[in-house]
Amino acid sequence: MRVKHKALSSILSFLLMSVSLVAAAPRCYDTGNFTTNSTYATNRDLMLASLPSNASASGGFFNASVGQNSDQVYALAMCRGDRTPEDCYGCVNSSTYELMANCPNQKEASAWTGDYCLVHYADHSFFGTLELQPTSAVYNTGNITSNLTEFDTVWQSLINNVVRNASNGSSSLKYATGEADFVVFQKIYSLMQCTPDLSQQDCDYCLRQSASDYNSCCHGKQGGVVQKPNCYFRWDLYPFYVSNASTSASLSPPPSPATASPPPPPASPPLQSTDPGIPKEGGGISSGTIVIIVVPSVIFVAVLVILGVVLPKRIKKKKQNDQNNKTHVDSLQIDFNAVRVATENFSDANMLGRGGFGPVYKGKLEDGRNVAIKRLSENSGQGIREFKNEVMLLAKLQHRNLVKLLGFSLEQKERVLIYEFLCNSSLDNFIFDPAKRLLINWDKRYKIIEGIAKGLVYLHEDSQYRIIHRDLKAANILLDEEMNPKISDFGMAKLFVLDQTRADTSKIAGTFGYMAPEYAWHGQYSAKSDVYAFGVLVLEIISGQKINSFSNEVGDSLLTYAWRNWNEGTALEFVDPILRDGSRSEIMRCIHLGLLCVQENIAYRPTMASVILMLSSYSMSLPVPSRPAFGMNSTMETATMSDSSSLSGQSKTESIRASVNEVSISELDPR
Ligand SMILES: *[C@@H]1O[C@H](CO)[C@@H](O)[C@H](O)[C@H]1NC(C)=O
Ligand SMILES: *[C@@H]1O[C@H](CO)[C@@H](O)[C@H](O)[C@H]1NC(C)=O
Ligand SMILES: *[C@@H]1O[C@H](CO)[C@@H](O)[C@H](O)[C@H]1NC(C)=O
Ligand SMILES: *[C@@H]1O[C@H](CO)[C@@H](O)[C@H](O)[C@H]1NC(C)=O
Ligand SMILES: *[C@@H]1O[C@H](CO)[C@@H](O)[C@H](O)[C@H]1NC(C)=O
Ligand SMILES: *[C@@H]1O[C@H](CO)[C@@H](O)[C@H](O)[C@H]1NC(C)=O
Ligand SMILES: *[C@@H]1O[C@H](CO)[C@@H](O)[C@H](O)[C@H]1NC(C)=O
Ligand SMILES: *[C@@H]1O[C@H](CO)[C@@H](O)[C@H](O)[C@H]1NC(C)=O
Ligand SMILES: *[C@@H]1O[C@H](CO)[C@@H](O)[C@H](O)[C@H]1NC(C)=O
Ligand SMILES: *[C@@H]1O[C@H](CO)[C@@H](O)[C@H](O)[C@H]1NC(C)=O
Repeated sequence: MRVKHKALSSILSFLLMSVSLVAAAPRCYDTGNFTTNSTYATNRDLMLASLPSNASASGGFFNASVGQNSDQVYALAMCRGDRTPEDCYGCVNSSTYELMANCPNQKEASAWTGDYCLVHYADHSFFGTLELQPTSAVYNTGNITSNLTEFDTVWQSLINNVVRNASNGSSSLKYATGEADFVVFQKIYSLMQCTPDLSQQDCDYCLRQSASDYNSCCHGKQGGVVQKPNCYFRWDLYPFYVSNASTSASLSPPPSPATASPPPPPASPPLQSTDPGIPKEGGGISSGTIVIIVVPSVIFVAVLVILGVVLPKRIKKKKQNDQNNKTHVDSLQIDFNAVRVATENFSDANMLGRGGFGPVYKGKLEDGRNVAIKRLSENSGQGIREFKNEVMLLAKLQHRNLVKLLGFSLEQKERVLIYEFLCNSSLDNFIFDPAKRLLINWDKRYKIIEGIAKGLVYLHEDSQYRIIHRDLKAANILLDEEMNPKISDFGMAKLFVLDQTRADTSKIAGTFGYMAPEYAWHGQYSAKSDVYAFGVLVLEIISGQKINSFSNEVGDSLLTYAWRNWNEGTALEFVDPILRDGSRSEIMRCIHLGLLCVQENIAYRPTMASVILMLSSYSMSLPVPSRPAFGMNSTMETATMSDSSSLSGQSKTESIRASVNEVSISELDPR
C-alpha cells in the first residue's frame, strides 16, 4: 500500500511544485526513441535543464535548440501570462522533471503542467508551426442552470473578443483575458494564450479550435480548460487568473512588428486532418485528465440571481459605473439603522454566537431576507477607508464554498459585516454531536472535505488576492440546506490591525489545536499553515473527535493517534464507527491526505491545489506521511499557544489559556 521513501520525495516535490487546478499527463510522442547515454540524450537533458531559468527570465516564453544534425534537440517553454517569474520557474522546472520521468527515451514529448506552463521538445524544429494535437480537455462538472441560449450568446461574444486580443499579441506574448456580464453579479471569465511563435492566423485558429473542442465535449458545463501544444484556453465563472495592469499592456503594439508576422502558412489545409482529439471521457476522471470542480455552482448562480432580484434598495442602487470602486463600495454599505432594525437592536434573542471578532446576530432585512450580522468588536484599529477597502476586497471573493459577504455597515465606532444566512449552522454542530452526526454519512463528509479544499484553493491561489484564512476550524465551516460547506471568516485578519503585543492577539490569529507549529511557536504564517488546519479538520471529520478534547490512555493527541493507527495498519480504528459503510478507499485516502497536511515540516505539506489533485485522482500514489507536528499532552499544548518569549511567565500563560478556551469554544460565525 505504501510507496518507498526514495520514490517519495520526488513524487512529493512534483506535487508541491507542479500542481495547480488541472494536471494533464505528459504526452510522449511515438515518433521515435533514443538510446540511453546517446548524444541526443545528453542534449535533451541539457536543453531541458536550461528551460526554467531562461523561460522565467524572458517573460514566460523561450525557445532554443542545442546540438547538431540528428542529435539536435529543439525545445520550447511557455508560462501562463498571469504568472510571476518565480511561478514560471517552478512550473517549468517540475515540468521538465515530469517529462524526463514519463518519457525517458522518447525523441519528442510535451506537457502542460499544473495548468500554468507548457514544455515541448523534439528532434525537429516545430517553432512557428501550428500543432493541434494532442489535446486535453477538462471541464467543471457543474451545469449551467440559467437559460443556456442566453448564456451561449454572451459566452460566444466574449470568446470572440478574447481570441481576437490574444492572437493580436506580439512575437513575445500572445495572451489575453476578458470578462463579460452574464446575469446580475455573475461574470464569465476567460483566458487565452498561444505560443507567441505562431502567426496571428494560426493563433486565432488554434484558440477557436479549442473553444469549439470545448463546446463539443462540454457544452453546458460551468467551466473548462483546453490545452494544445500551441495554445491554451480556459473559462470559468470566477476570476481564476491574476489580472494585472501589465496584462492589458500585453495587448499593446508588438515590440518588433517585423517578426510578429512570419509568413502566414495556409491556415486551413494542415488543420483539416485533425479530428477533435479530445479524450472520449470528455475530461472525466481518466488516466490523462482530471476534472476539478472549483466553480461557483448551480446553487451559487441561483442564489446570485435571487439576490439580484431581491436585493435591498440600498444595494440595488448599485454600479452605474463598475470600474468606479468607490461607487461599488457605497453600494455594499447598508445604513446602520437598518441593521439595528434587522437585529432588533442587537437583541440577545437574535444572537447566534459570539467569537473572537465579536457577536453574530441573525437579522431580517427590510426585503425579508435572512442574513447573519457580525458586529465586530470595537477596536479593529483600522480607519474607515482601510476598512472599506478590505470589505470591498472580501466582497469580491466569490466561490460556492465561501460564505458570501453581502454588505457592511459603519457608524462611528460600529463596524458590521452582513453575510448570507446559512440554515444548517456549522460543521462542529454535526460531526461532534452524538445524534446529528448520524445525519452526515461518509458521502456527505467526503463532499464536505472536497468543498472545503476547493474553497481554500480559491482563497490561496485562484482569487486575485491570495488570502490566507488563519482560523480554519470546524466552527468556521458553515453548511447550507444541502450540506454544502462554506468557509466563513476568511480574510478577517485583513480587517484588524494585528498587534502582536496585545494578549488577545491569539483571538484573532487562530484557534488552538488547528495552529501549525511554526505559527504557534514562531508566528510564521503561510498558506501551509492553512493546509495544516485543513489536515486537522479532515481528521476530525473522519474520526468525529475534537482536536482539543481527544485523549486516550497512552497520551496520544488526535494527530498522533491517527498516525500510529495508520502506521500500524489499523487505520479503521480511527474512523468514526458510523462511517464504516463508506468507501474504504476514499476514507483511507482522506486519512492519508490529512496526515500529509499536518506534517511538521512545512515543505512536506502539500499545497491545497495538490490536495485537490490527490482527492480527485485515485491512481496517484501519495507520499508516506512523516510524523505529525504535535505529539504532546495537553499541558504542553497550552504552552505552545504563547510565543516562546512568554513561556517563562506563568501568569502570561494563564491568561493566554483563558483566551484560548474562549476562542476554541466560540462560534465565530453567521449561521
Ligand atoms: C519507444 O519506446 C516505447 C517504450 O519505451 C515503445 O512503446 C515504443 O513502441 C517505442 N517507439 C518506437 C518508435 O520505437
Ligand atoms: C549509461 O551511463 C552510465 C554511467 O556512465 C552507466 O552506469 C550506464 O550503464 C549506462 N547505460 C547504458 C544503457 O549504457
Ligand atoms: C539559458 O540558460 C543558460 C543557463 O541556464 C544560459 O547559459 C544560456 O545562455 C541561456 N540561453 C539564452 C538564450 O538565454
Ligand atoms: C524561436 O522561434 C522563432 C519563431 O519561429 C524562430 O524564428 C527562432 O529562430 C526560434 N529561436 C531559436 C533560438 O531557435
Ligand atoms: C503585475 O504587474 C506588476 C507591475 O506592473 C509586476 O511587478 C508584477 O510582477 C505583476 N504580477 C504578475 C503576477 O504578473
Ligand atoms: C526542480 O524540480 C526538481 C524535481 O521536482 C526538484 O528536485 C528541484 O529542487 C527543483 N529545482 C529548483 C531549483 O526548484
Ligand atoms: C449535469 O447534467 C447532466 C446531464 O444533463 C447530468 O447527468 C449531471 O448529473 C448534471 N450535473 C450536475 C452537477 O448537476
Ligand atoms: C431563453 O432565452 C431566449 C432568448 O432570450 C428565449 O427565446 C427562450 O425562450 C428562453 N428559453 C427559456 C427556456 O427560458
Ligand atoms: C481587447 O483589447 C482592446 C484594446 O486593446 C480592449 O479595449 C478590449 O476591452 C479587449 N477585449 C477584451 C475582451 O478584453
Ligand atoms: C491589434 O492591436 C493593435 C495594437 O494594440 C490595435 O491597434 C489593433 O486595433 C488591434 N487589432 C484588433 C483586430 O484588435
